[in-house]
Amino acid sequence: MRVLGIETSCDETGIAIYDTEQGLLAHALYSQVKLHADYGGVVPELASRDHVRKTLPLIKQALLDANLTAADIDGIAYTAGPGLIGALLVGATIGRSLAFGWNIPAVGVHHMEGHLLAPMLEETQPQFPFIALLVSGGHTQLVQVNGIGEYQLLGESVDDAAGEAFDKTAKLLGLDYPGGPRLAALANSGVAGRFQFPRPMTDKPGLNFSFSGLKTAAAQAIASNGKDAQTQADIARAFQDAVVDTLIIKCQRALKQTGMKRLVVAGGVSANVRLREALQETMLALGGEVFYPRSEFCTDNGAMIAFAGAQRLAAQQSVDLSVKVRPRWPLTELSPL
Ligand code: KG4
Ligand code: ZN
Repeated sequence: MRVLGIETSCDETGIAIYDTEQGLLAHALYSQVKLHADYGGVVPELASRDHVRKTLPLIKQALLDANLTAADIDGIAYTAGPGLIGALLVGATIGRSLAFGWNIPAVGVHHMEGHLLAPMLEETQPQFPFIALLVSGGHTQLVQVNGIGEYQLLGESVDDAAGEAFDKTAKLLGLDYPGGPRLAALANSGVAGRFQFPRPMTDKPGLNFSFSGLKTAAAQAIASNGKDAQTQADIARAFQDAVVDTLIIKCQRALKQTGMKRLVVAGGVSANVRLREALQETMLALGGEVFYPRSEFCTDNGAMIAFAGAQRLAAQQSVDLSVKVRPRWPLTELSPL
């Protein structure tokens, strides 16, 4: 089965074609970073309008790249939530309408299920069950995954998501949007240990996270130590080390609590090199395995939506003709395959 995937939940238009036998046939991505840069963050209305401009041309490009025509597509998967409502509606309306015109089924995909399954686009795939650490701009969650659609929430952030904390701290450091990857780059030249930030919520039991305090710690360090380049880099380093350590402590706890040895890490922050290296070391020491998507599929993309949608379409799950999106949508409400 060949599925066209459409991702428009935030500020990237992602299109891909996934074949359940042949794998990924094409993928195309357009990032709106430049459009939102002047505003220091995503402007929802501008995001929606840009998805309107980019979605159809990217679909044409993906078909061309895969040397296919519309007649070769067996189903369409679009992101139906969570995300920005206008942005979601663009992808959903285009996806649902194309499926109607082409007389094929369509399915609305949960964006975080897309992230969670993205490591399955790689050659070595995790076997169920596993623990997933989902770290994106909007979510930080630890989930026990028993199968596709079988998700048990073990813990989540009570305030800022990990990516959000990266972005807000980057802003304090004067870095442009999107701050996460810029802060990570700056941290590379930072001296470890000059600043010591807390590892929030690790001193008491439980698997929830809280990242908003780290932003305050960074703000105080900036206020009392000035803004010379080395200090900035040292603060970035301290912040990144605190986030990475905290995530690792909670992952270890989740693995111990459930007796599992397999960990999947996905979502934008899983592109962070320091986090990937540290988790690799941790899992090696524990005699377990860690799985990530390739870097380009950590952040938003169409491939993960095409893949997740293909699993559901292949199991005969599809939507009716109405266009429905859900800006808020708990992952635990999904049905099993
Ligand atoms: O998954 P994603 O592309 O979009 C959402 O679903 O939110 O995640 C975007 C988030 C942003 O907060 C961005 O700053 C963060 O992921 N991010 C990173 C890195 N690359 C992206 N954070 C830290 N280090 C990175 N290398
Ligand atoms: Zn995402």
